[in-house]
Amino acid sequence: MSVTDEIKSKLDIVQYISKTVPLKRAGSGRWKAPCPFHHEKTPSFTVDENRQTWRCFGACATGGDIFNFVMKQQGKTFQEALEELAKEAGVELRPQSPEAKQRDQQIERLRGLLKIVADYYHELLDTPDAREVLRYVKRQRGLTADTIIKFGIGYAPDGWRNTLDMLTNLGYSEDDAVSAGVASKNDSGRVYDRFRNRLMIPIRDERGRVVGFGARALAAEDNPKYLNSPQSALFDKGRLLFGLDLASKTIRDTGTAVIVEGYLDAIQAHQAGYANVVAQMGTALTESQLKLISPKWAKKIILALDSDAAGQNATKRSVEVARETLTADYSGRLQVEMRVLTVPGAKDPDDLIRETPEAWAGLVENAVPVADYLIAAETAALPARPSVEEREAVALRLLPILLASENDLYRGSNVQKLAVALRIPEDKLEGWALEQARKLTPPKPAAKQYNQPPVQPELPSAPADTSDDLPDFDSPRSLQRSSAPIHHSQPRADEKIPLELDCLHILFTQPDLYYHINRKFRELAGDHPLLQSTLSDFSADDFTRTAYRALMDTFMVAVAQDEMDFASYVRTHLAPELFEELDAILADQWEELRSRVTFGADLDMIRQDKRTVRPVEVGVDVILKALQLRRARIERERQELLFLSIDEGDVMSQINGSVLAKRLIDAELNRRTQRG
Ligand code: UTP
Ligand code: MN
Repeated sequence: MSVTDEIKSKLDIVQYISKTVPLKRAGSGRWKAPCPFHHEKTPSFTVDENRQTWRCFGACATGGDIFNFVMKQQGKTFQEALEELAKEAGVELRPQSPEAKQRDQQIERLRGLLKIVADYYHELLDTPDAREVLRYVKRQRGLTADTIIKFGIGYAPDGWRNTLDMLTNLGYSEDDAVSAGVASKNDSGRVYDRFRNRLMIPIRDERGRVVGFGARALAAEDNPKYLNSPQSALFDKGRLLFGLDLASKTIRDTGTAVIVEGYLDAIQAHQAGYANVVAQMGTALTESQLKLISPKWAKKIILALDSDAAGQNATKRSVEVARETLTADYSGRLQVEMRVLTVPGAKDPDDLIRETPEAWAGLVENAVPVADYLIAAETAALPARPSVEEREAVALRLLPILLASENDLYRGSNVQKLAVALRIPEDKLEGWALEQARKLTPPKPAAKQYNQPPVQPELPSAPADTSDDLPDFDSPRSLQRSSAPIHHSQPRADEKIPLELDCLHILFTQPDLYYHINRKFRELAGDHPLLQSTLSDFSADDFTRTAYRALMDTFMVAVAQDEMDFASYVRTHLAPELFEELDAILADQWEELRSRVTFGADLDMIRQDKRTVRPVEVGVDVILKALQLRRARIERERQELLFLSIDEGDVMSQINGSVLAKRLIDAELNRRTQRG
């Protein structure tokens, strides 16, 4: 028995969750409560005692086992949740593997190295060679000596071996320098300084430890303008906010964080006394970045991205990420408020604050709610005298966003605002909103569900008996009629495990197939809005076993990141407890895996949805398995849904969506097995 199984066998999810959530019985082995992760009146949070799982069907649209609950409730990593629950269950975790211990020590060593390099660059800024650079920093960028010291700004000299020589003299190896991201190795194996003739901005994590550098070009012809440290276990752009070490106290004290785009924007803000400002790391805002500050410190987040077209797009993207993250988790309950600040003129915050530092406070004060920003941005893009159709198109694009994720408090006023902005009567907008909801329902069989709830909320213990009231795809009869051969109407969890294992085996050995699976899901969903979520990307939720879910989470991050090969990423990021699981799944294919995942080029092509080089047949098996797992998941979730009060329109449409999705999957499975 694996350690996760052992822990689960000793803990009861109902008992554990009811310590913090007032669960009410909703049938035999079923419990429900208002979701602890978002604000709501009617319960959409369910716990299944037999399966030992939980799920929120409301805004969170997520669920899992006891481990996922702890991760979500306490914002913990899998490893941390494991440690907590092991203690709770009185299960002893094996000591860290020698490999994991070694990895930790190596990271610690590299941190030491980076601190030395940061100090080295910082000191060089005061040498005669850097006189011009210092003048640029002080005169052109307007930074004071205090600021230069506080942020540890420095200068990397021109030349191929300055940093390397400094480090090797101290006893570090060239490989250390490469691992820490301050040196690079070319194809012929020659190692050289990564940063040459650049202004060096050390990037520290939230605890103030130097983890990398943002290096600004000083010569106009040097590209890119900012060269950052390469992505590694040590320097993970998606998990860093520049300046957070200096900003965290003020963010905590004021409850407000301002996120700007560039390093210099943040530095300039701090210099002017605005100490709650942090900078994004040159990519779209990520969920991990948001979670660094919210909700534990910041109740209000202000996005202050550039006002040029690129900045506006970045703002929209960040808003999307923020809405997903914050609504999914806590916006309702904890009232995290998102606002957008626009810097007037073609300026960035750096320019503005340098010229008129006092103006910043007013801009922060006048930052507009996200909904207002979106409405303004979309209507501004309309022609001068927009036609009804054009205005309608904007409304249809914005309505789902405005309605879906805001809590009740804002919903009404958002529709009102949209009505005013588009000069469309409010009741007409409400009508369209309804219309959209209706379009979400599948055709014929399910139509009657709208006025006829399929199941009595208080009779939840026998979902199979209610199948007459449901669209009939799930009844035993229809299963017999259907010629799809792969039907376990309700596979027991342990029957499915081999399928889960096979699937992970294929994915970890041929990661690019992940994109084939998702493409198939997307193809099945077409542009049916409801199916976008039911047939969303293959993910951890398609697996039932804890260790497999955690492995799948790691897999998804590993395929999405760009800067390490897949196998190294998995090696360096996997929770130590999962190594054994992965070894079991891969059998002895680690080495093979390592060689096979050097097809980075393929992966990129597939990611961009270009023509794939891999013959389709190779992926057929895993797509089949993924479809089966998704079908089982949809069924699991649908059954759980039945235990909620189902007079709610969105629960109904979710049920209809799952029925339609299953039908599509069955048809696809049918086609595939007939063909093969
Ligand atoms: P900008 O191009 O807006 O630069 O990039 P900036 O901050 O205004 O820079 P200055 O004022 O010309 O010095 C904003 C941020 O995007 C990332 C950096 O984090 C930068 O601060 N970036 C930009 C890169 O990582 N690489 C680049 O080549 C450019
Ligand atoms: Mn700038």
